Amino acid sequence: MSEIQDAHRPARCVGPEPWASGPDGFVLVMAAAPANLAFARSVVAAFAARLPFTLEEVEDVKLAVSEMVANAVVHAYPGGTGPVWVAGRIRDGGVEIVVEDRGVGIADVEKARRAGYSSLGGDHLGIGFSVAESYVDVLEVDSSPGEGTCVRLFKRPALQAAPS
Ligand SMILES: Nc1ncnc2c1ncn2[C@@H]1O[C@H](COP(=O)(O)OP(=O)(O)OP(=O)(O)O)[C@@H](O)[C@H]1O
Ligand SMILES: [Mg+2]
Repeated sequence: MSEIQDAHRPARCVGPEPWASGPDGFVLVMAAAPANLAFARSVVAAFAARLPFTLEEVEDVKLAVSEMVANAVVHAYPGGTGPVWVAGRIRDGGVEIVVEDRGVGIADVEKARRAGYSSLGGDHLGIGFSVAESYVDVLEVDSSPGEGTCVRLFKRPALQAAPS
């Protein structure tokens, strides 16, 4: 399969699910490249703004997604690049966002999620996962070595979450 066709094969987590078939869903497929980071951030911020989030909460969603896309850019395809999917939908009064790559995957997810762990070092403090986790209500990682990584984030506006 050519590289281009391969990028259009449904992703493992985002899959052929109807993210974009309802009124409130999108799937973005792009190259895992630094130049696309700002693109993903803008799309997600515009999407989150559909719910009654505060500006600060929109910023939180944006930062969390940004860290996960940055991870796909930096870690998923060592020495090369490949596709990254960002999919979003509105569920249970909040936004659900999945960031997925088909890269090298993570052998020990628990260790990778620990604050201060980085397989790279240098400029990388190893805090991407813990920072992202602190900004959203749910952060789940599903990863298999050699297959890729899926991160599912969920956040509900605090205003709406309060009992009525
Ligand atoms: N999409 C991914 N594909 C492969 N490995 C990943 C991916 N995302 C994270 N990892 C692994 O998990 C580790 C921890 O990620 P985390 O974002 O917390 O820290 P970091 O990216 O190394 O540093 P920082 O985010 O602080 O710059 C990474 O060092 C890497 O080994
Ligand atoms: Mg990171």
